[in-house]
Amino acid sequence: MAADWDRAAARAQYRRLMRSWPMRVLYALLALVILFAWAWSIAAALAADVEQLSGHDLSVPVARCVACHTAPAATDGVPRLRHPITPSCGFCHRQGLPERLPAPMR
Ligand code: HEC
Ligand code: HEC
Repeated sequence: MAADWDRAAARAQYRRLMRSWPMRVLYALLALVILFAWAWSIAAALAADVEQLSGHDLSVPVARCVACHTAPAATDGVPRLRHPITPSCGFCHRQGLPERLPAPMR
């Protein structure tokens, strides 16, 4: 029974599958997902947290954030938005550490 198993043919078939175009597309997608995960997390780590600023709490809709930070007359100390508008601001600008860290990290 074991003699029927053609190891070389199985290997060749496996290699053909892993080098086929559908699999190459999946490798490229995986690389993109990993790169974007790094890019987003670095951006989230670098972006200033705004939750402690007045008027920057969770109740402010994104449209208000954008309106205030892109208004042409935004000279009275409002920093201008220097990056593209995103569907969420808090993903990067609100992720501060919780005030009370879990016990092991206190
Ligand atoms: C009514 C106008 C207004 C709205 C609405 C507003 N901001 Fe601001 N934002 C300001 C002003 C003024 C400052 C500067 C305040 C300061 O530095 O104390 C500021 C500062 C910031 C900064 C820079 C903080 C820093 O420490 O450098 C970021 C980032 C920011 N806002 C994002 C947001 C986000 C996200 C929202 C929506 C939740 C938002 N803003 C809504 C007026 C506004
Ligand atoms: C993908 C992450 C990300 C998202 C989402 C994001 N930002 Fe930013 N933002 C940054 C980074 C990184 C900077 C540059 C570092 C800094 O100044 O905090 C920045 C800078 C800013 C600044 C300039 C701060 C200053 O001190 O000059 C403002 C204003 C701002 N963002 C507002 C917003 C608003 C409003 C939104 C939602 C529409 C938003 N951001 C969404 C990452 C992000």
